[in-house]
Amino acid sequence: MTEQQNPTTMEQIISLCRRRGFIFQSSEIYGGLGSCWDYGPLGIEFKNNIKKAWWKANVQMRGDMVGIDCSILMHPQVWISSGHVAGFSDPLVDCKQCKQRFRHDTLQTAVCPDCGGELTEPRQFNLMFKTHVGAVEESASVVYLRPETAQGIFVNFDNVVNSTRKKVPFGIAQIGKSFRNEITRGDFIFRCREFEQMEIEFFVKPGADEEWHEKWLQKRMNFYLDLGVNPAHLHFREHEKAELAHYAKRCVDIEYLFPMGWRELEGIANRADFDLTQHAQGSSKDLSYFDGQERFTPYVIEPSAGVERSFLTFMIDAYREEEVNGEVRTWLKLHPDLVPYKIAVLPLSKKEELNTVAQDIFKRLSKHWACEYDETQSIGRRYRRQDEIGTLYCITVDFDSLQDNAVTIRYRDTMQQIRIPIDKLENVILNKLNGEVFSTFE
Ligand code: GAP
Repeated sequence: MTEQQNPTTMEQIISLCRRRGFIFQSSEIYGGLGSCWDYGPLGIEFKNNIKKAWWKANVQMRGDMVGIDCSILMHPQVWISSGHVAGFSDPLVDCKQCKQRFRHDTLQTAVCPDCGGELTEPRQFNLMFKTHVGAVEESASVVYLRPETAQGIFVNFDNVVNSTRKKVPFGIAQIGKSFRNEITRGDFIFRCREFEQMEIEFFVKPGADEEWHEKWLQKRMNFYLDLGVNPAHLHFREHEKAELAHYAKRCVDIEYLFPMGWRELEGIANRADFDLTQHAQGSSKDLSYFDGQERFTPYVIEPSAGVERSFLTFMIDAYREEEVNGEVRTWLKLHPDLVPYKIAVLPLSKKEELNTVAQDIFKRLSKHWACEYDETQSIGRRYRRQDEIGTLYCITVDFDSLQDNAVTIRYRDTMQQIRIPIDKLENVILNKLNGEVFSTFE
């Protein structure tokens, strides 16, 4: 049996991302900075939509969740209590010849994969970036760029309970940057040094943790399925006891079939009472919880997803190449909630009369939805450009529009075109976005 493979290649995705301004290398004009990336005009729209969809599903639409936004720099004791200073490390080896550094646990050979040189013995290398706060470096205290957003939630547990009166079981969600000094060998944005996490710490009574873990596994899997990811490209993977992180009682990954194989998209861990207990000890503050009958330290279920890996997953899964009239049509079958632009307004020519009408439509629709205005190149080329970035509807203003006050609207998935009155555009698009069938537009 041949191993299952994703039909999309990483080269196709990298090329599209670069060509259309989704992602650029960080500091590219200076030769780039390894595993750091910049998000261009389309990338930021797409990324924001992923975060919005996550926040809506996990915070806005749940009565038992609240959000938080903590600072990236935290008191250094946080990372001692959490175990990161002592144990957040990878085993690394150096090539004695070319001085390249590699992760020992991912090497396939006993010699340098680049030059064949001899390797050093593996040494543990802490992944946290260190810096200093204070005016003079020598006298200032060391701080770390957070390697996960989770700890900001744990140290604010009491603040949130006291200020919101939330009762266990409830959760706190955060989206924000994390930093890890990763040693990587490519795979685009899969493993970065600076990335964004979307994390939930869900606090439950000890004993209810296993049931809540199961619930979150299903809930998080449904998130990707609801946003259109192919079910055959997703599965759960249970962590072996030996690979569990120092804080975890159990951990299950949601893996996606990336072009390089099955890899972690999101981790869903049962962290038990590890973090609250550690911070209570480290800070000498009581972080236990009284539910009216008994006092306990809550257990924590932690669904932790990466924005970049979600970005890659949605894009790889949506990527399509098909032949239309002897030409290759590249298009992104992205879920409507995720597309960078829902609508493109396209005047057929640059003539002023058409531009006036088209600009007016753009102004009206962009109050409600992200729209693009494009008046360059032939209309066929413009449709292809919009397909390639997943735009749902192309609205074309032509010379007939000046007579009949109607425009042509073209739907991405079927390329079907329908003429509709300009004053009905908002209603038509709203109905379509709410799930009405396209052919019922007229
Ligand atoms: N608080 C738990 C935690 O941080 P993790 O498995 O190390 O657990 C959770 O990270 C998620 O964050 C991963 O599933 C992945 O999506 C994302 N992530 C972790 N390290 C990453 C990196 N270097 N680059 C991009 N995403 C990363």
